[in-house]
Amino acid sequence: MSRKNKLKRFAEVATFPNVFESVPTKESFLTNQEGLSEDLRGNWSSGHFKNNHPILLELACGKGDYTVALAKDFPDKNFIGVDIKGSRIWRGAKTALESSIHNVAFLRTRIEFIDRFFAPNEVDEIWITFPDPFEGKPNRRLTSAPFLDRYRRILKPGGIMHLKTDSPLLYEFSHEVIRDDSACTIQYTNDDIYSKPLDFPELAHKTYYELKHLGIGRTIKYIRFVIN
Ligand SMILES: C[S@@+](CC[C@H](N)C(=O)[O-])C[C@H]1O[C@@H](n2cnc3c(N)ncnc32)[C@H](O)[C@@H]1O
Repeated sequence: MSRKNKLKRFAEVATFPNVFESVPTKESFLTNQEGLSEDLRGNWSSGHFKNNHPILLELACGKGDYTVALAKDFPDKNFIGVDIKGSRIWRGAKTALESSIHNVAFLRTRIEFIDRFFAPNEVDEIWITFPDPFEGKPNRRLTSAPFLDRYRRILKPGGIMHLKTDSPLLYEFSHEVIRDDSACTIQYTNDDIYSKPLDFPELAHKTYYELKHLGIGRTIKYIRFVIN
């Protein structure tokens, strides 16, 4: 995508009614489509979605492929895709608007600040799809212990985490972190999910990066675990 197009999307995405952006100077405040500050912490379901359905997050959502696909699968759940790149979020947010998928929103922020925008017990499940493995920088990995602590602060007790990755490094690293955390329990793990019929139908959805990885012959791995 050209730089001009990226900038256009970046500006346009801020005007979408299903996109919120973090305001660096104001802790838990978000900017809505009118450029006004809004505090949705603890209030996403009733304040934005206008229902009391469970909240699921997709972290590092990129173009929001999984967020939109899961929202279609589960219309009685609310899905929020989180990423720092507005020009990528633009794709998923635009698709949701054009297809009238109302149980989808996007949050543009760094995931390091995720607990500023969700209250304790507000989130039911978290998907992390094809995050960067950050070779040589373990603390930046979205399954490192500091990140699990952030998720613990917003998840309901027994909240479920899903990690889908092509990276053997991140897969092994995540296993180690989960094993070292006495409050985490692995429910399911598979280092080649497409080698046999899928155990969970929702794993069939493929993101932009997943398709790229499959195209060069990489195998897809999945861990499902509970954080208490
Ligand atoms: C490899 S891409 C995967 C995107 C998408 N999940 C997919 O599979 O197509 C990783 C994404 O994570 C986002 N990201 C990485 N670290 C982040 C952070 N700390 N906070 C917010 N977004 C982050 C990047 O902007 C990028 O869009």
